[in-house]
Amino acid sequence: MTTDDAAAQLDVLQAGLDHIDQGVTVFDADLRLVGWNRQVFDLLDLPLDLARRDIHFSAFMRYNAERGEYGAGDVDTLVDIRVERAKDFKPHYMERIRPNGQVIAVRGTPLPGGGFVTTYTDITEDRDFVLETEGLTKEFKGFLAVNDVNLKVRRRMIHALIGPNGAGKTTVFNLLTRFIKATAGRIAYKGKNITNASPDAIAAMGIVRSFQISSVFPHLTVRENVRVALQRKHGMDTHFWRPARELNQLNDEADALLSQVGLRKFADFAAVELPYGRKRALEIATTLALDPELMLLDEPTQGMGHEDVGRITELIRRVAARRTILMVEHNLGVVAHLSSWITVMQRGAILAEGPYADVSRNRDVIDAYMGSAHV
Ligand SMILES: Nc1ncnc2c1ncn2[C@@H]1O[C@H](COP(=O)(O)OP(=O)(O)OP(=O)(O)O)[C@@H](O)[C@H]1O
Ligand SMILES: [Mg+2]
Repeated sequence: MTTDDAAAQLDVLQAGLDHIDQGVTVFDADLRLVGWNRQVFDLLDLPLDLARRDIHFSAFMRYNAERGEYGAGDVDTLVDIRVERAKDFKPHYMERIRPNGQVIAVRGTPLPGGGFVTTYTDITEDRDFVLETEGLTKEFKGFLAVNDVNLKVRRRMIHALIGPNGAGKTTVFNLLTRFIKATAGRIAYKGKNITNASPDAIAAMGIVRSFQISSVFPHLTVRENVRVALQRKHGMDTHFWRPARELNQLNDEADALLSQVGLRKFADFAAVELPYGRKRALEIATTLALDPELMLLDEPTQGMGHEDVGRITELIRRVAARRTILMVEHNLGVVAHLSSWITVMQRGAILAEGPYADVSRNRDVIDAYMGSAHV
């Protein structure tokens, strides 16, 4: 192929890309930019002088990083690990929150001849705030356990709430689920004021907290436990005799949930016989049975060994596909791996917020963790 032929092909490619309404970039096997469309520059606010053929992928990424579009660590990961060589590029999907609050879905696809295509879609509207607190405050006899917290949780994101012991994380959860009453402030869920709603009403609206409902009955089997949760969701009384047909249908539903959390082969075990990590998976299954839209997880990997931590992490990622997750988690590896957004609390107040790469470099956050047990 002559240089002219190659240039002609690139022109055809370019003409095609201009018709795509998402932002698109195409990099060749040498990681050189060979195609783009105007949308990508509009969407990411990039100056058009970056739209030069032959600009290297790493330069493109670093330019973004310098503008604060990524934490420095993210860029190193993307450039050095994911695409050290174009042929190592793997399909990936991530959601980036830009400094201006815009949420961009980034999808990377390898090309058969090496190189890759990346598309960028603005999904900000789809990720509006599903939960918002305003001035949320809880005072225990003059002590401010939660002090003027404005928490904003975006739809279908994994949002982590972290901070040293006693920061007020669990108290925030207790306030959100109306387990305790706020001293001051407002809580809105999908735009509705739920500050004074009952815990039951909140659960019915789709906010379910795991590891608190204690819906695991030790002497029932794993399947029966999930079935009880399903009966609750369907508003069935659990004590009365039900036609076998109905129970079978519930069993099918229960088994599907058990497969989802990797417990299908434990279905006939008594819950008490499950190893610890599997018990937490069962708790997640009973929570999922209620089909929550917003799932609150308080320290899902607490007390787990390495293998269980990995399993629960993957499970959370899987169940997060169609819902919003707000989790308190002390294991920062899990937080880094799972969450798109992190709120750091200290002494009842929000100390910092942002993606992991930013928050983990924040001086105040580092100092807060220095004085605590877990770093
Ligand atoms: N019912 C209560 N009465 C009095 N003080 C309380 C009550 N509940 C919590 N607190 C206090 O409020 C503060 C915040 O507690 P909280 O349990 O919310 O912290 P946390 O961030 O969840 O900590 P940890 O990481 O240890 O779980 C602590 O100082 C705690 O002692
Ligand atoms: Mg706690």
